[in-house]
Amino acid sequence: MMVQKIALMTALLLAASYECHAKPQRLICYYTNWSHARTNEHRYELEDIPGDLCTHVAYAFVGVDEATSRISSLKPEYDEDAGQNGFERFRDLKERFPHLRLIVSVGGWTHGGGAFSRMASSRAARLEFVTSVVTFLDRYRLDGLEIVWLWPGAPERDGKREDKDNFYYLVGDLRDAFRRAGKGWEVSVQVPVDRARIAVGYQQEWLCQAADYIHLAGYDLRGPWTGYADVHSVLRRRSHDVHYFATFNIEDGITSWLGKGCRADQLVLGLPLYGRSYVLKNATLATGPGAPAIGPGEQGPITNDPGLLGYFELCEMLKDHNWTYGWDEAAQAPYVYRANQWIGYESAESLTAKAQWVVGKGLGGIYAYTLDLDDYRGHCGETHGLLRSLHRELRNGSDVEVDFAIFREGGVV
Ligand SMILES: *[C@@H]1O[C@H](CO)[C@@H](O)[C@H](O)[C@H]1NC(C)=O
Ligand SMILES: *[C@@H]1O[C@H](CO)[C@@H](O)[C@H](O)[C@H]1NC(C)=O
Ligand SMILES: *[C@@H]1O[C@H](CO)[C@@H](O)[C@H](O)[C@H]1NC(C)=O
Ligand SMILES: *[C@@H]1O[C@H](CO)[C@@H](O)[C@H](O)[C@H]1NC(C)=O
Repeated sequence: MMVQKIALMTALLLAASYECHAKPQRLICYYTNWSHARTNEHRYELEDIPGDLCTHVAYAFVGVDEATSRISSLKPEYDEDAGQNGFERFRDLKERFPHLRLIVSVGGWTHGGGAFSRMASSRAARLEFVTSVVTFLDRYRLDGLEIVWLWPGAPERDGKREDKDNFYYLVGDLRDAFRRAGKGWEVSVQVPVDRARIAVGYQQEWLCQAADYIHLAGYDLRGPWTGYADVHSVLRRRSHDVHYFATFNIEDGITSWLGKGCRADQLVLGLPLYGRSYVLKNATLATGPGAPAIGPGEQGPITNDPGLLGYFELCEMLKDHNWTYGWDEAAQAPYVYRANQWIGYESAESLTAKAQWVVGKGLGGIYAYTLDLDDYRGHCGETHGLLRSLHRELRNGSDVEVDFAIFREGGVV
């Protein structure tokens, strides 16, 4: 009888704590290793990170060493203590923001896929990598690892057929080692929403079992490489999305991962704090999303990358009143054009709308890509204005009492 009572009470307590500990939404902020190299006020350093607006911060990127298969710095003169001590200054964010969880991201676009493919293809090399990651997380007292392998199985990125299984083995090995370490470390993987890429590189059901979190890249779904002007963080299909592009959007991507056994609260949607720009083919003829384009638009003065504009750059450009504004309803994204220049981007309004969608779907949260592309100095409004709009909406979406306080108590995550 007594035992039953205790069991019942325990069950009730568990139910109650589960109830009020409903998973708070994550807002993961990306710090990039290149933004500190800018000049003057544009220099974005670790100390600029608004830790009060994020639940997690990711350090992007570190790499896989070709020769040893170990996790390694791509820029020791910045990352390590003989240089600017990036890793330790990253770790020290917790002193100012004790609730923060810190993640290291390995890979990224310029890293390429070859080193991952080779490392993942043998058990010995995987274990070498896993052991080095454990040492790394321990040394800098971090909370997890994100794998940004772009993309397993992609031949143009040095991938091979076996990557699809090997990627899953790698994630499984990491998870097992993290469990054994018993420090609450998490393994997350960045994945595409593109069904063709998913098919060649991702054992979706297994990955959903093995990884703690799945980060879906909801940006760069269209770009100057596509041949027509368009917004790039497309929420839903539009009438001009045909063939390959018909399901190449955030909603269909989320549906695909959910359909393979991922839990909704395991999926974290990546949204861009930057725009993609184009030169229109004929601005008299067509100016809407899908209008023919002949190449990337003018580069930004600070990011210097044709076809890409940080929000901090484009919001300055838009202060000039000659732009025509448009809104893509299905994509839930704004665009502007002037003469032959066309830009598709995200604004506070569109990010708010997408955050509401994320909350409505019960997803695990959002990752903001990246901090140094936002209006971080507040020339067009509040500092880190786009991030703030996400923060406002996710806070509102989760139980106010639980909110981010749960992280401060170091409780359920
Ligand atoms: C940043 O990381 C990339 C790899 O993703 C590397 O190629 C690049 O040299 C690094 N840049 C700086 C400025 O540290
Ligand atoms: C652009 O389109 C308009 C309307 O169809 C046409 O009159 C004009 O010749 C085109 N301009 C160029 C440069 O092709
Ligand atoms: C903006 O419009 C004004 C008046 O129509 C014009 O004088 C100015 O040159 C335009 N600026 C740009 C950058 O197009
Ligand atoms: C919070 O969400 C509710 C319902 O979605 C909405 O009506 C309200 O305006 C939101 N409040 C803020 C501060 O965003």
